[in-house]
Amino acid sequence: MEASAVSAKERLIVALDSKDIPAARDTVERLDGVVQFFKIGLVLQLAPGAEEFIRELIGRGNRVFLDYKYYDIAETIKKAVARAAGLGVSFLTIHGSSNVIRGAVAGRGESNLKLLTVTVLTNMDQADIAEMGYTQHSVEQLVVFRAAKALEAGCDGVIASGLEAEKIKRISGNRLLVVTPGIRPDGYPEDDQKRTVTARRAIEAGADYLVVGRPITSHANPPNIAEQMIAEMQEAFAARHQTAAI
Ligand code: C5P
Repeated sequence: MEASAVSAKERLIVALDSKDIPAARDTVERLDGVVQFFKIGLVLQLAPGAEEFIRELIGRGNRVFLDYKYYDIAETIKKAVARAAGLGVSFLTIHGSSNVIRGAVAGRGESNLKLLTVTVLTNMDQADIAEMGYTQHSVEQLVVFRAAKALEAGCDGVIASGLEAEKIKRISGNRLLVVTPGIRPDGYPEDDQKRTVTARRAIEAGADYLVVGRPITSHANPPNIAEQMIAEMQEAFAARHQTAAI
């Protein structure tokens, strides 16, 4: 069987939604040698020492995804994104209106920062989007619409569930990165996430990176479950690679 060119180990991002920085550092240490890409989001944004922790992670050779979901006037976005780019983070989330995206593209300048648009949060379903006023669209239609707009405005990728990954890859001609949260192993107890898929299914559907929080961080043995997911992802990447070659 032909080996996949993609290393699944580089494609698993662990969400550090820990209670404070020492707890996040503890999770990173437990995952040492297994996981090398971490997401810092709103939970740790105001935690004392957050910025130093981000620098520490990057200094140790990890990649960081800053999930701050920026939304503001373009000029403010530009300055905020320039600051994130200066920190050396790899991914940053922004909201998907063209103005925001254009400000963000200007702010990241020549850096390697990848800008990702949030499409529809993976904990939302049809009733949730209807409550926001989107009564004429299915969740999938709204996700695909936003992805197309993001591409048009110069975004590098989108955050979307595994249920929509395939369609986004298709309509964007594979020009958008798809980063997928809402990953749940088979048999995982139901929680707040609604549009969930397994790690294998997400990769099969075309996702490029997976974001996994609680299934790894709340597990009794985080490195063990992370390794299992990476193995599952690697198999799915290999199968995808073969299919693409046919
Ligand atoms: O613990 P869990 O696996 O649900 O963590 C998923 C992470 O991805 C959380 O940090 C959440 O904020 C983030 N996220 C998400 N859905 C999005 C965007 C981000 O679940 N659309």
